[in-house]
Amino acid sequence: MSNQGMNVLVTGANGQLGNEIRIVSKRSKDNYIFTDVVEVEGQETTILDITDIDSIRSFVKINNVKVIVNCAAYTNVDKAETDQGFCEILNAKAPENLAMVMKEVNGLLVHISTDYVFGGDPYNTPCREDQKGTPTGVYGLTKLHGEQNIQAVDSDYIIIRTAWLYSEFGKNFVKTMLNLTAEKPRLNVVFDQVGTPTYAYDLALVIFDILENRKYEGNNGIYHFSNEGVCSWYDFAKMIAEYAHNFGCDIQPCHSDEFLSPVKRPSFSVLDKTKIKETFGVIIPYWTDSLKRCIFNLKGECFSNE
Ligand SMILES: NC(=O)c1ccc[n+]([C@@H]2O[C@H](COP(=O)([O-])OP(=O)(O)OC[C@H]3O[C@@H](n4cnc5c(N)ncnc54)[C@H](OP(=O)(O)O)[C@@H]3O)[C@@H](O)[C@H]2O)c1
Repeated sequence: MSNQGMNVLVTGANGQLGNEIRIVSKRSKDNYIFTDVVEVEGQETTILDITDIDSIRSFVKINNVKVIVNCAAYTNVDKAETDQGFCEILNAKAPENLAMVMKEVNGLLVHISTDYVFGGDPYNTPCREDQKGTPTGVYGLTKLHGEQNIQAVDSDYIIIRTAWLYSEFGKNFVKTMLNLTAEKPRLNVVFDQVGTPTYAYDLALVIFDILENRKYEGNNGIYHFSNEGVCSWYDFAKMIAEYAHNFGCDIQPCHSDEFLSPVKRPSFSVLDKTKIKETFGVIIPYWTDSLKRCIFNLKGECFSNE
């Protein structure tokens, strides 16, 4: 691939990560093209369904796309349990389509995966990239299949597994907790699931840096990225309430089995990020620093990522 400005296709651009990539790529020398399955008012979006390989192939050829950043996925973990067929198409078959099309044009696929490929075994140390996947549900299983399908195509690829994603966009735990802790006098939140929150803006910056500075050359592989640190969903909720000054809600720790859920979630899915830091020179913010920044942005109080 040449070092001149190139065309970068972002799929699922109306989601959390896709919207953060819209923000960080404004300063790029490359040309970013944003696509999704629906148009959203006020956002420039071209319709492109990643399950349709013919559409992808012709879009890539017409627009001379050299890199695809796949932010599209089936992300409803509970619903996936009763929708395995479509979940497999979107999370496993569609990434294979993207990898095959990139192979045809000698391009690169940047694909996002998840900490939920782990969790079936009782870990208590951070998960490394080469550790065996042991998903506990359909979402994690189909995302693992997506990774395996991309690797089998043998095109240039970078797969980044991330975890507990939140942002100013769409639905996520931070926005839910901001509302609940403002409204409810008491809330129980699970403390027996441990991981690391990830501000989608921080992940977008890393993807942008890898592409903008052509750091992907010779670095095919799977990488882990979350913010730094470790917490439970209970700790996460406590910090959200604190930063939002929602002091009227009594937040208590509880066990996962106190909530009815169609799927068992990993009890420990902390990601070891040594590889991404050493390969790409990434400096990762601590999770509470990024959380503070996102909440201030949401409340329009202080920072702006633009
Ligand atoms: N959210 C998390 O906590 C989390 C944690 C770890 C890893 N990840 C991974 O990180 C990535 C980004 O997650 P996110 O939270 O930003 O996802 P998201 O907000 O759910 O965004 C996904 C986007 O993809 C779109 N989409 C659905 N089907 C599509 C199709 N056939 N073709 C093109 N676009 C399609 C969705 O549209 P609709 O909304 O209309 O369906 C949505 O706009 C995903 O790969 C996810 O698996 C997420």
